[in-house]
Amino acid sequence: MELAGRKALLTGATGGLGRAIALALAGHGAELTLSARQAEALEALAAELPGSGHRVLPADLAEPDAAEHLAAEAGQVDVLVANAGLPGAGLLTDFSAEEVKRALRVNLEAPMLLAQALFPAMVERGEGHLVFVASLSGKSASPRTSIYSATKFGLRGFALGLRPDLGPQGVGVSLVSPGFVRGAGMFADSGAKPPPGMGTARPEQVGAAVVKAVKSNRLEVAVAPLHQRVMAHAGLVSPSVADRAQSGSAGQKAAKAVADGHAKTGKR
Ligand SMILES: NC(=O)c1ccc[n+]([C@@H]2O[C@H](COP(=O)([O-])OP(=O)(O)OC[C@H]3O[C@@H](n4cnc5c(N)ncnc54)[C@H](OP(=O)(O)O)[C@@H]3O)[C@@H](O)[C@H]2O)c1
Repeated sequence: MELAGRKALLTGATGGLGRAIALALAGHGAELTLSARQAEALEALAAELPGSGHRVLPADLAEPDAAEHLAAEAGQVDVLVANAGLPGAGLLTDFSAEEVKRALRVNLEAPMLLAQALFPAMVERGEGHLVFVASLSGKSASPRTSIYSATKFGLRGFALGLRPDLGPQGVGVSLVSPGFVRGAGMFADSGAKPPPGMGTARPEQVGAAVVKAVKSNRLEVAVAPLHQRVMAHAGLVSPSVADRAQSGSAGQKAAKAVADGHAKTGKR
């Protein structure tokens, strides 16, 4: 599906990857509806984007019914990019029940409900695309990612199951799965270093991956250096090997540093 002249709804637009995705979509001629909680930051981004017709719809996706309201307010949406997310990093005991529910709602429930509300009109028009920003943590879990991985494994399963249902009706479904991203975004904000040898990707690569997913109807675009993608895939194929590799003291230490960094940002 070409992006020029298409109406795209992007959640998590105020975040590090959201900004890069917005620039990439607008750069390819899409007309954007930007959503997140911070209204002023959304307005500033909308004013900065190339092209015209961009607008903002602030929403707190942790609130009940917020996804359905956002979809209704957005009007025509040709492309959904469900990107908003919380790091959900740390031990399960570090989280209140409310915080667990919030991570599930923002990372998993809201994308599912947005898709459910938006795809029927796409089917009627005979075209549309749903992009879910997941993570390599949706392929392979590691210490202190139980909540985050639960949401991203779930999102991955949702998208993989939805794709064959909607494909025959002209609606594409894609996953964009980044690994560690440097320079901007939740991992960079944590100040933590990736585990040795893993490397990082740039936010612009995530933006380009979203464009590629829509234009080429890709099932999944992983955005990470080769070594990281291979490790994540190995974890997907053999969780027991990944478990043994990551449960040692080096893996635990690296995971703790990442989770501690996320905790310092106050994002749960
Ligand atoms: N950065 C990475 O290394 C990395 C790696 C793999 C996957 N990802 C995924 O990429 C996506 C974007 O992450 P990011 O790195 O850009 O993170 P980020 O900089 O922390 O941005 C998160 C975005 O989600 C929005 N958000 C958070 N809570 C929300 C809520 N209750 N309602 C509505 N919006 C909410 C935030 O906006 P407001 O605060 O304005 O509401 C912000 O726009 C996430 O799904 C993340 O899991 C990131």
